[in-house]
Amino acid sequence: MTRLVIVSNRVSPPTGEGQANQGGLAVALSSALRETNGIWFGWSGNETETFTGHVNFSKSDGVTTATVDLEPQDIDEYYNGFANRTLWPLFHDRTDLAEFERNFAGGYARVNERFADTLLPLITPEDLIWVHDYHLIPLGAELRKRDVTNRTGFFLHTPWPVARLLTSLPSHAKLVNALFAYDLLGFQCQAWLDSFLYYVHDQFPEAEISDGVIRIGDRTVRVVACPIGIDAGDFAKSATTPEADEARESILRSLEGRDLIMGVDRLDYSKGMEQRFHGYSRLLQDHPEFQEKVTFLQIAPPSREQVASYQDIRRELDALSGHINGEFATAHWVPLRYVNRGYDRLALSGMYRSARAALVTPLRDGMNLVAKEYVAAQDPENPGVLILSRYAGAAEQLQDALLVNPFSPEELADALHQALLMPLEERKTRWRAMMDSVETQDIRWWLKRFLDLLTSEHPPRGSTAEASESSEGADTKEAAQAAASS
Ligand code: ADP
Ligand code: F6P
Repeated sequence: MTRLVIVSNRVSPPTGEGQANQGGLAVALSSALRETNGIWFGWSGNETETFTGHVNFSKSDGVTTATVDLEPQDIDEYYNGFANRTLWPLFHDRTDLAEFERNFAGGYARVNERFADTLLPLITPEDLIWVHDYHLIPLGAELRKRDVTNRTGFFLHTPWPVARLLTSLPSHAKLVNALFAYDLLGFQCQAWLDSFLYYVHDQFPEAEISDGVIRIGDRTVRVVACPIGIDAGDFAKSATTPEADEARESILRSLEGRDLIMGVDRLDYSKGMEQRFHGYSRLLQDHPEFQEKVTFLQIAPPSREQVASYQDIRRELDALSGHINGEFATAHWVPLRYVNRGYDRLALSGMYRSARAALVTPLRDGMNLVAKEYVAAQDPENPGVLILSRYAGAAEQLQDALLVNPFSPEELADALHQALLMPLEERKTRWRAMMDSVETQDIRWWLKRFLDLLTSEHPPRGSTAEASESSEGADTKEAAQAAASS
């Protein structure tokens, strides 16, 4: 098999201590890298006084990683700046939080150029190159400038924003133009792909778009909705290990017979935790019979702590959780347990299994893997209920969740009420349908689908080959109209 070169901002190689602490993405990518003797290239997460382009190679569990240190100005302008203060909020519909600073854009361009320069000598002509996420959109174009002609794909893990928001970015056309350097663009779901196609149709009228292919100038780019999955089988197994059992039993003991509602999110404003807390508070207010009968555990490890909007959301959640507990707690019951730390994967799976309901209610999310992990961890004989935001990419696949508007505390409270009273048979029916989807379209399915498309020839003009699996082959005007009216 052709050697795979994966490029992402963060590199998470296998730990070599089993897979207990690893996400499915790292496991799946590692196995593909191992099979092809490939490399995983990206930022080490470390700082150096001056960027030298020195590559640190390391091999762990058969996977070679190649990482570079970045200088403080790069980290400020590229990672904390353009990636997380401009693109992240913009791609999650938070133009109010997006900061448009020229030096951020400059730092983003500079780091992508530095990545291209450093990666170039590591690439051989036959390699398949796969670039991940919003940090590295221009990397493909930078490689092309350096005469790299390899098959090169890009996968976006976040949503693609609606055109009228994206056009608020001063360099939006330049950014999107860079995407045309890739041979394949993957999006998490049809909604984000439609939104992208609408933008291209609107802003690049010269682009010819049909059958899941964009033709523009001398470039032909295939586009696909290819939802990322989890290692469902392995996650389900994790949830029944002795470590997971211990985590589950210890939580259940602490609940003293109460039902558990659970949320697990990076501490990010896109995850809708504030609205979720209000929804829970509304449940306790409108249905006082649940007071002292339920406990809500929200796990939220801090994230991107250098960025002010993340410091703000942390302060707001600290205050709100204190307020809710102050209002409803009794001498024997704390209604909301708000925990700012990470958990081992096995412990987390056991905790998911102990929860009668999960609140996965991002305001906007590319996919949301927590939703899939919660489903995979359930006991088939007594599964919990997934309450899922309509605005998570996962909602396209998990239609049997209780789908909610995450902005509405009333709707969240109603869904919680329904989940807590849902009869076993309905819980089982909903869970089975969701589990089928999580198992079928798992992480290996995703990896294979993307790589198969990346290695295959583009469909010839006028072909409808792509249309067979989903609507991504639909005529762009239709997709554009659908996106505009949604
Ligand atoms: P995002 O990529 O935006 O953080 P996802 O839901 O897609 O959101 O992925 C989050 C991943 O991080 C999941 O695999 C989840 O299990 C993991 N995770 C989130 N919070 C914790 C935590 N407190 N402890 C351990 N893992 C966590
Ligand atoms: O899933 C989106 C994403 O931005 C990933 O690219 C990233 O690794 C993850 O969230 C966590 O964010 P960060 O790498 O900034 O801590």
